[in-house]
Amino acid sequence: MTMEIKNLVEKHLQNNQPSAWFEELYAQANQNPQQIPWAHLQPNQQLIEWLKNNPIHGKQKPQAVIIGCGLGDDAQAFAEAGYHVTAFDVSPTAINWCKQRFPHSPVDYVTADIFHLPSPWQQKFDLIWECRTIQALPLNVRAQVIKQVVALAKPTAKILVSTHIRTTEEAPNGPPWPLSSGELNQFKQLGWQEKCRSTIHRENNPISIAMIEYQQ
Ligand SMILES: C[S@@+](CC[C@H](N)C(=O)[O-])C[C@H]1O[C@@H](n2cnc3c(N)ncnc32)[C@H](O)[C@@H]1O
Repeated sequence: MTMEIKNLVEKHLQNNQPSAWFEELYAQANQNPQQIPWAHLQPNQQLIEWLKNNPIHGKQKPQAVIIGCGLGDDAQAFAEAGYHVTAFDVSPTAINWCKQRFPHSPVDYVTADIFHLPSPWQQKFDLIWECRTIQALPLNVRAQVIKQVVALAKPTAKILVSTHIRTTEEAPNGPPWPLSSGELNQFKQLGWQEKCRSTIHRENNPISIAMIEYQQ
């Protein structure tokens, strides 16, 4: 993250508004994706692999929800794989940007806040995709955000989490704030078991990138 973004984040954290800087950043970007550090304009590669290895069975479209969907590439990948997709982000500018990028998309792009989920979404979804949103929120709201992620899932659902992982429980210097084993353990405490994990290790970098699948 640039110093400018770090200052923007700091300003909103001081006001106890951990999600407020995203809208400001997307609005300032003025449709230029190069101004958005996480925008690669293509779906997550580990997700593409997972979708290839886990084709949908049966005639009914499973309901997927994309948390903090950013510019929408992962949401589009789920729709192409046959899911009925709801994709939400706290930033209205990001949601409008998705709609402009994919004007004929079957994805339901919605402005919504993970901390204030619409009540019909409770336990509604078969597949939860959480990619890099938990790590973009500070440690003091982490337990709350993980609870909200889990609240979206049907008991039979799969929850997929793609995140950076740190090796200690010490507070990292973020954003992003990579997750620790202790933090990920909260999924287990809420009744969700880790079924599999694929990890990318990077040379000379203790922070790895993992995609973890949870089921009850
Ligand atoms: C680091 S970005 C990752 C975006 C996308 N998932 C990706 O992997 O490219 C985090 C996203 O979460 C969104 N976000 C942050 N706080 C949120 C909240 N409280 N509710 C919903 N979305 C949120 C941000 O606007 C941003 O688009």
